[in-house]
Amino acid sequence: MRQLEGAFALIFKSAHYPNELIACMRGSTLILGVKELADDKVRGKLFHDVKDLTKDEKPKELFFSSDLCAIVEHTKNYLAIEDNEVVHIKDGCVSILKFDYGREKPASVQRALSVLEMEVEQIKKGNYDHFMQKEIYEQPHSLTTTMRGRLKDNSVVLGGLKEHLKTIRHSRRIIFIGCGTSYNAALAARSLFEELSGIPVTMELASDLQDRQGPIYREDTAVFVSQSGETADTLLALEYALANGALCVGVTNTVGSTIARKTHCGIHINAGCEIGVASTKAYTSQIVAMAMMALAIGADRISTQARRQSIVDDLSNLPNKVSEVLKLDGEMRDLAESLIDTQSLLVFGRGYNYATALEGALKVKEVALTHSEGMLAGEMKHGPLALVDETLPIIVIATRDACFSKQQSAIQQLHARKGRLIIMCSEGDASSVRPVESCKVIEVPRVADCLQPVINIIPLQLLAYHLTVLRGFDVDQPRNLAKSVTTQ
Ligand code: AGP
Repeated sequence: MRQLEGAFALIFKSAHYPNELIACMRGSTLILGVKELADDKVRGKLFHDVKDLTKDEKPKELFFSSDLCAIVEHTKNYLAIEDNEVVHIKDGCVSILKFDYGREKPASVQRALSVLEMEVEQIKKGNYDHFMQKEIYEQPHSLTTTMRGRLKDNSVVLGGLKEHLKTIRHSRRIIFIGCGTSYNAALAARSLFEELSGIPVTMELASDLQDRQGPIYREDTAVFVSQSGETADTLLALEYALANGALCVGVTNTVGSTIARKTHCGIHINAGCEIGVASTKAYTSQIVAMAMMALAIGADRISTQARRQSIVDDLSNLPNKVSEVLKLDGEMRDLAESLIDTQSLLVFGRGYNYATALEGALKVKEVALTHSEGMLAGEMKHGPLALVDETLPIIVIATRDACFSKQQSAIQQLHARKGRLIIMCSEGDASSVRPVESCKVIEVPRVADCLQPVINIIPLQLLAYHLTVLRGFDVDQPRNLAKSVTTQ
């Protein structure tokens, strides 16, 4: 371990040492699950030396995992191994040692077992065919849990940020850092942050930030967005930001994850365990969590009070609106059927829904294995317009917000080039956006402009899901992809 660099969690087993196992970790997650101890014997018990627990009682089953979700069906009792600790299991007995730099001898570790607050149902498919489908349908509930206890008296209370709000308000810049879907969620929240905080917000893909060694200063607030809290690129960017003295905030879905532990403060999005590789409910919960964060940061500004009030009102009603939009499932299945042979799909968005275009396209490419690109409609004339013909399907997001008339004009221009258009608009707007009667229109419920990405992504998640099933691909574990990308 002294010679290794970077983050790792390793387990060693050897034929030369039967009935023995060694595990160690640094900067990653390693969970030791302990089964078969009655709850009253386990809770709060010091895990000084598991020989104490095993010698006079029945032998225990022990589990190693990099994710808490993986142990819940076996046990709820676990111990989170910490940096530079080594676990030694021999003949069913466990001991944990910590190796600190500069200290010759390792110290024995004492720590109480924790009890997992998760139900086994969360990792079962229930009546659904796939986890992705279940997780799409869970969104009214997951959004409710994201907001639970946090919207109070028309304001937002975020316990994990309370002590740091003043520092964030005085930052020179807020930097959002993430990968894939988490980056897209941050992008969806960006303009609300700028509007309510008045602080410039920049976006960083974690890998690119490292490649460039982009400047980060003490006066910056760096917000790390990660469903798993374990993504290697995001973690390395976090270490870089910590070394540069920025205030580091985590937005994760995994309590006890490395990003949750290493950031100065943060928010848990509480979306519940997400198993499908394609992130769905975590995405919408991330947007809502960040919208609440923007509201909390901007809470000291009288000039935006009315705006904040209307957003809080719409947040409370958001789960109902999500239930409504889920009724488009059959329609999206039909649309998927009509796109089953398509080689490529473009998604044009703008303003708040540029992120929706990126995320919708990401869903289609990662699970349906269909080429798909999300594009900023403002960039249309600077290249992508050349691709337009009657064969290439193009989804244009044109729900009501400040960019609506610009999107209407983009639709006209695409139609003039004979584009095969599918338009997403707010309920009742079909006739205002449809260039011809035959054009496919997806009408979605209307919410506050900054929350509209939460609604708009759901038909695209359903489309990606159905396209994948119809094409016969693995929805929950698309080829070549992993749920947590723990390597660079
Ligand atoms: C999206 O569906 C993917 N699962 C992927 O883009 C993911 O969002 C990315 O790898 C980052 O993961 P994280 O949120 O766990 O950091």
